Amino acid sequence: MRVRDLTADDYVPYRAMTADAFGGVFEDTGPRPFDPGQTAIGIDSLDLPGGVEGVLAAGARIRHDHITLGGGVVRCGGVGGLAVHPAHRGGGVFRELLTGVIDRCAAESMAASMLYPSNPSIYRRFGYQVVARGERLVVPLVDLQRLPPVAGRRLVPVTEVTLPRLHALYRELTAGENAMLRREGPLFAQGMPGGGWSALLLADESGADHGYLSWTRGSGPGSGLEVHEIFGRTREDRLALLRSLGSWSTVTEEATLRLRTEDPVLDALPGGGSRPAPGPVPLVMMRVIDTAAMLRARRAPAALRGAIRLEVVDDTVPSGTGRAAGRWLVTAADGDITVTHGDGEGDTEILGTVRLDVHAASLLLVGGRTLADARRLDLAARAEPSAEAFLDALLAGPRPSVMDAF
Ligand SMILES: CC(C)(COP(=O)(O)OP(=O)(O)OC[C@H]1O[C@@H](n2cnc3c(N)ncnc32)[C@H](O)[C@@H]1OP(=O)(O)O)[C@@H](O)C(=O)NCCC(=O)NCCS
Repeated sequence: MRVRDLTADDYVPYRAMTADAFGGVFEDTGPRPFDPGQTAIGIDSLDLPGGVEGVLAAGARIRHDHITLGGGVVRCGGVGGLAVHPAHRGGGVFRELLTGVIDRCAAESMAASMLYPSNPSIYRRFGYQVVARGERLVVPLVDLQRLPPVAGRRLVPVTEVTLPRLHALYRELTAGENAMLRREGPLFAQGMPGGGWSALLLADESGADHGYLSWTRGSGPGSGLEVHEIFGRTREDRLALLRSLGSWSTVTEEATLRLRTEDPVLDALPGGGSRPAPGPVPLVMMRVIDTAAMLRARRAPAALRGAIRLEVVDDTVPSGTGRAAGRWLVTAADGDITVTHGDGEGDTEILGTVRLDVHAASLLLVGGRTLADARRLDLAARAEPSAEAFLDALLAGPRPSVMDAF
């Protein structure tokens, strides 16, 4: 069975298959190209026993996303709409399709792949690892309403005119995070989101921006306030934004805040009455596609100097699928990371060897975790102590967060 690129002629069979898998109504509007900024791949039903022409046995879309990583940015294949036709389930088609996804991500020079799994276990066996989860917290507004004003800060309405300032601030404030999406076109519309979305910028007296708050006000009594993001440069800025949120306390009792992993907003919340929002917790899984590219994109801590051998073993896919597996010499000096294939030559003093399986590599290379964390999850991560300390220092930083819209 062959995995191939889907074209405009495949649009209708693909949408029919995914509507059947995930629910929803699909109107047949005839052939049309898939949305820009993504690659669609699939397997023909005709390639399989009982197959029929004009039907897809399986399909998936790979978004051409960019994510932040250790102070740099990498291309990341965001997998969505993955389904196998009910006539062809239970026969190993998923394995062929996901291997095709990993291959295709590598061909598109993507360093990583990311997805929101409905069933994490089926992806885990192909090297995807849970690295983050969507967090939402219900916060009583009465606590926020008592926060004192912050001197030197004013709120600015977000309109079509001021929206680019919010985008610029998002880009700046997430640059040092791990796994945050860059939210650029064509995958992310650059205009006002609509659907009741509103936002405020937090500026100083000279007009420079220091933070923003975005939300959607629910309709109907008791429906509250859905807060999409609170980003501030400093704790004071986050307090100023929380205070502004408190001004809704006369009309609704609570706000639901969408948070990053270990969000600094948590440290600014004044009251203890918050509770997790009800409902399922979305998980985010990532897989390393290209180990060297994930390391090269990073900045090294300025004081870190040295070299290690890194070995990654990937027995989840046939050899040659993706570029996760291999042996490299990883060197850090003056904030730069150099990654060369093989064992390296010359008089470089090597601290030792780090050996990871692909599961540990997927957990660790996105940053903010240690080899000890990987071992606590029973993933294979072995190293001499000095090599382990080096890689932990290289990958140190915030735990990954993914927020997929403004
Ligand atoms: C989930 C799905 C993609 C699996 O495709 P498939 O071709 O039937 O899967 P395979 O036969 O290759 O099986 C792959 C493995 O997943 C397991 N699996 C398949 N469906 C599963 C399910 N619903 N729950 C748990 N495990 C499942 C199989 O047992 C198999 O494990 P094994 O290798 O240990 O035997 C397919 O059932 C489907 O399209 N479902 C609806 C859409 C969907 O759920 N998409 C994924 C969204 S994230």
